[in-house]
Amino acid sequence: MSLSNRKIKIAVLPGDGIGQEIIPQAVKAVNAVSGRLAVEMGQGEIGWSSVVKSGEALPQATLDLIENSDAILFGAIGGPEYEAWKRANPRGSPLLRLRQDMKLFANYRPITLFLELENASTLKPEVIRGLDLLIIRELNGDIYFGEPRGMVSDKPGERESINTMRYTEPQIRQVAHAGFKAARRRRKKLCSVDKANVLETMGLWRDVMTEVGREYPDVELTHLFVDAAAMELVRRPTHFDVIVTGNMFGDILSDEAAMLTGSLGMLPSASIGIGSKGLFEPCHGSAPDIAGKGVANPLAAILSAALMFRYSFDLEEEAQRIEAGVRKVLSDGLRTGDIMEKGATRVGTEEMGEAVAKAIAAAA
Ligand code: IPM
Ligand code: MG
Repeated sequence: MSLSNRKIKIAVLPGDGIGQEIIPQAVKAVNAVSGRLAVEMGQGEIGWSSVVKSGEALPQATLDLIENSDAILFGAIGGPEYEAWKRANPRGSPLLRLRQDMKLFANYRPITLFLELENASTLKPEVIRGLDLLIIRELNGDIYFGEPRGMVSDKPGERESINTMRYTEPQIRQVAHAGFKAARRRRKKLCSVDKANVLETMGLWRDVMTEVGREYPDVELTHLFVDAAAMELVRRPTHFDVIVTGNMFGDILSDEAAMLTGSLGMLPSASIGIGSKGLFEPCHGSAPDIAGKGVANPLAAILSAALMFRYSFDLEEEAQRIEAGVRKVLSDGLRTGDIMEKGATRVGTEEMGEAVAKAIAAAA
């Protein structure tokens, strides 16, 4: 199919908090890059903003929109009112439900350092220079979904609660293949992170990773325990190429790794399953403390849109054009508060989004 008559449908779900501010900026980038493509974007409600309107965190209209779309551009959900509501309405997080129902088992979190941000990191420039690593976090298993879960006893003074770390061999196999394939397209090094010295689940994880690794003799497989991995990430982060790990460890390590790049506000993510329909979201969450102030960094959302072109639409050129737009505004010295440094120009969410869209359009 030629590009000019290719139709793409995107479900846009800004959600809560700064999601409402950053996603419109990502939409501008999508519009700027999609000149020859017929892109249709439909907006849906999710999270607290949805509860306020319809009493539901994930209404049927949003599920229908997703059903009829090729990908989801997601902002964030959460906030104090939502957390309180959720406790009384425990139907599970809509985001976790989407990840599970759509079988989005692999979450790609590329940790790349833009040269311009070398000084925004809390680590010394020489430690992070050249940083380019990819964390692949398993997204459908582990303690996030394992049963049994919940309160065991609510007897005052003796309350007890349980969650279960649980993995099946097929779940590990699936994400292992995703990891080895990704490593093949990169520097051919894969580090599997587990806690096999303590947990049986993680012993299985290590065994399966090793077995799958035999099918990829060209990829160098190493294993690290998660505590050591957390340390290595700040000690010698450039030694990593691809990290594959479970849902919980991936959640934690990716926030840690994001700070190597200067700010969580720079970290995009792609959640992918068997088919091409993926969910693309910044890793930072709804940030209620700065919501509504127009100061949030929209770059993680914009970079998530780039991943959407790369992974769901297989349009590498468009992905790179968005990433080049981000690089351009950074080299022009524009910075939101989270990545601000001496001599740079401080801008708000909107201004940053406009500048990226302009840079993309100008380079076309
Ligand atoms: C993330 C977030 C989510 C997670 C929360 C919001 C449920 O922290 O995507 O990293 O824990 O997966
Ligand atoms: Mg997280």
